[in-house]
Amino acid sequence: MSLPSSLRSEAPRINPSILSADFVNMQRDLARIETADFVHVDVMDNHFVPNLTFGLQMVERVQATSPIPLDVHLMITDPDRWAPGYAELGAASVTFHLEAASDPVALARRLRDMGARAGVAIKPGTAGDALYDILDEFDQILVMTVEPGFGGQSFMPETMPKLRALVDEARRRGSNTWFQVDGGISDSTIEQAAAAGADTFVAGSAVYGADSIEAAVTGLRDRARAASLET
Ligand code: DX5
Ligand code: ZN
Repeated sequence: MSLPSSLRSEAPRINPSILSADFVNMQRDLARIETADFVHVDVMDNHFVPNLTFGLQMVERVQATSPIPLDVHLMITDPDRWAPGYAELGAASVTFHLEAASDPVALARRLRDMGARAGVAIKPGTAGDALYDILDEFDQILVMTVEPGFGGQSFMPETMPKLRALVDEARRRGSNTWFQVDGGISDSTIEQAAAAGADTFVAGSAVYGADSIEAAVTGLRDRARAASLET
């Protein structure tokens, strides 16, 4: 498994979500985000969330086509069964939902054994403290800043205290876990999330809806960097 280049591993990381790309022009839309850090790939099963996107076969083609590494976000039931397939096809990072996993620690260990970074996600209504004692089992904690399921929703600032508490706990324990936020991230919300300790930012509509995708990625990164330096 090749890890991203050192430059791309540096925070703040901007991960555009192809949920906002044109699905029938995916190769073109992947090429457009080559200056970003990871491509965020939202897998939805119409069961864990009320929306359906794509599965292993499509993600395998994205893996083969993308100029940058994959950050797969599984919004599916039974990730214990399905998540390893995404590590196997070569995704750099595989994140599953805590609410859906029956044995999150065992699953994270399996993903790492397969060479992927292991991530765990929590919905806005899920408390973060269940993760405190197992933070180091994960390479990434995803604090959802909208209800998962759809792009283009409004950022929920009420999720920020939970993020801050998780980041503080990780720092206290000397953990190197990355903290990702996903949902409603834009020029007007990224600073709050960076100030609360996020280092990895998913943005769908704010990137693919911009006139210049490259300028949008750079603009988000610059704002996040400035806001995280202030804290
Ligand atoms: C929502 C997905 C997000 C989505 C974000 O369930 O997990 O990754 O693409 O889209 P925006 O940035 O438009 O809120
Ligand atoms: Zn996502």
